[in-house]
Amino acid sequence: MMHQDYIEFTDRIKKLTGIDLALYKEAQMKRRLISLYERKGYQSFDEFYRAVSRDEKLLLDLLDRMTINVSEFFRNFKRWEVLETKLLPSLLKRNPSLKVWSAACSSGEEPYTIAMLLAKYVPLSQVSILATDIDENILARARLGIYPERSLNEVPDEIKKRYFIKEEESYHISGEIKQAVTFRKHNLLHDAFKTDFDLIICRNVLIYFTEDAKRDLYRKFSSSLREGGIFFVGSTEQIFNPQDYGFASEDTFFYKKLG
Ligand SMILES: C[S@@+](CC[C@H](N)C(=O)[O-])C[C@H]1O[C@@H](n2cnc3c(N)ncnc32)[C@H](O)[C@@H]1O
Repeated sequence: MMHQDYIEFTDRIKKLTGIDLALYKEAQMKRRLISLYERKGYQSFDEFYRAVSRDEKLLLDLLDRMTINVSEFFRNFKRWEVLETKLLPSLLKRNPSLKVWSAACSSGEEPYTIAMLLAKYVPLSQVSILATDIDENILARARLGIYPERSLNEVPDEIKKRYFIKEEESYHISGEIKQAVTFRKHNLLHDAFKTDFDLIICRNVLIYFTEDAKRDLYRKFSSSLREGGIFFVGSTEQIFNPQDYGFASEDTFFYKKLG
């Protein structure tokens, strides 16, 4: 019964919002949603759906719950070091007007991190950084660019001094960095992908998707990259058979698009 109840719920949510929960790992998503509806006082997915379809605030709570937004600047610092020292030099040499996409960017820490790194080497007016996420609320926060201290744990001091302004308990990102990033709503599982990127960063979201959905996404990311472009994934998200998607492993968690 429980499984059927969930499947019906995912069908109805898809009709209501266009979001396909069936592409997310079932056990994990179900657990998250049940804990939400129980907290709100509902007994079943059916009851929960009827409430969600009448109450926009509850629908937003549901969307919040299904998207896990945790992020931080320079998340897994060592990987950003590898990107900067080993991969960026040749990427910039090939194309100084680098085209970057931070997919599932959450509150903006990731695209702002790449902007800060690139600013060391090229004028930011010369590069383009697209940052996308499915969640409108989180994109609004990303555009605002105000962060608690804990998001900055990994930020090197000189970058902190240069690009953050401390106001009471929070840190405001500088206008120069903010302007370099364009935020747009985009559902990885539904919307078309832009092409000709030199660098795609997609970290800590693929883990939530089914194996089929992941395979489809690897193919699409590969098609979106220029030859020689780099695909940067999260630190639990290595691709086991990169060659199937036209990738060669370049360093841990980095893949290069082959010609
Ligand atoms: C854990 S955060 C990762 C943030 C950042 N990439 C990082 O690694 O720090 C996952 C993000 O994926 C987004 N997300 C979930 N499903 C998505 C989808 N189908 N399309 C685009 N973004 C999605 C969520 O809204 C959330 O902001």
